[in-house]
Amino acid sequence: MRVLGIAGSPRRGGNTDLLLAEVMRGAASRGAKVKTIILSQLNIAPCQHCDACLETGKCKVKDDMQMVYKELERADRVVLASPVHFMGVTAQTKAMIDRCQALWVRKYILKQPPLGDKRERKGLFISVGGMKLANLFEPALATVKALFKVLDITYAGELLFPGVDERGAITKHPDALRQAFLAGQRLVED
Ligand SMILES: Cc1cc2nc3c(=O)[nH]c(=O)nc-3n(C[C@H](O)[C@H](O)[C@H](O)COP(=O)(O)O)c2cc1C
Repeated sequence: MRVLGIAGSPRRGGNTDLLLAEVMRGAASRGAKVKTIILSQLNIAPCQHCDACLETGKCKVKDDMQMVYKELERADRVVLASPVHFMGVTAQTKAMIDRCQALWVRKYILKQPPLGDKRERKGLFISVGGMKLANLFEPALATVKALFKVLDITYAGELLFPGVDERGAITKHPDALRQAFLAGQRLVED
């Protein structure tokens, strides 16, 4: 069981990083092989809608997204972590998601499995936001659910914490990190 963690925050060691690390620790405690990639350290250009992928299902832009495609294909579980930035996912996360348009082409135009095979994959979404708005996570949730649907990744749930702003504030939450550890265990057991 391979678990791919995708850290979408540009703030290293921030709240979503801490939650993601706990999810991965929980998954590893159940024997999963875990790997985390940090989007802010990668060079991933936004999709230019050049339509080159329409023929091939492959993106012609040769940057770090090529490695991310491979990691997504290898993974049995995907854990995507992004804080809320201006009501949506971070720019780093959205660039990665938009580049999955090539996988949309594979699925809907070329009628191929988007990630190369038909094994069951599951995905978890982690987010935090500084504010406490009722609809704080809705745009991000819609985006991430769309991504998982296109990639044939079953949506396995979410960890969402509003009112968490300063770096490390999540450690003051009564049980967020514990919830994350348990979610990581569940993700690889189900
Ligand atoms: C560019 C930017 C935009 C943000 N926009 C929002 C927002 O729309 N709503 C909100 O609740 N918090 C917003 N925040 C606050 C972050 O969501 C919050 O600080 C969060 O804890 C950051 O998580 P991290 O430590 O994992 O990066 C924003 C922060 C930044 C830097």
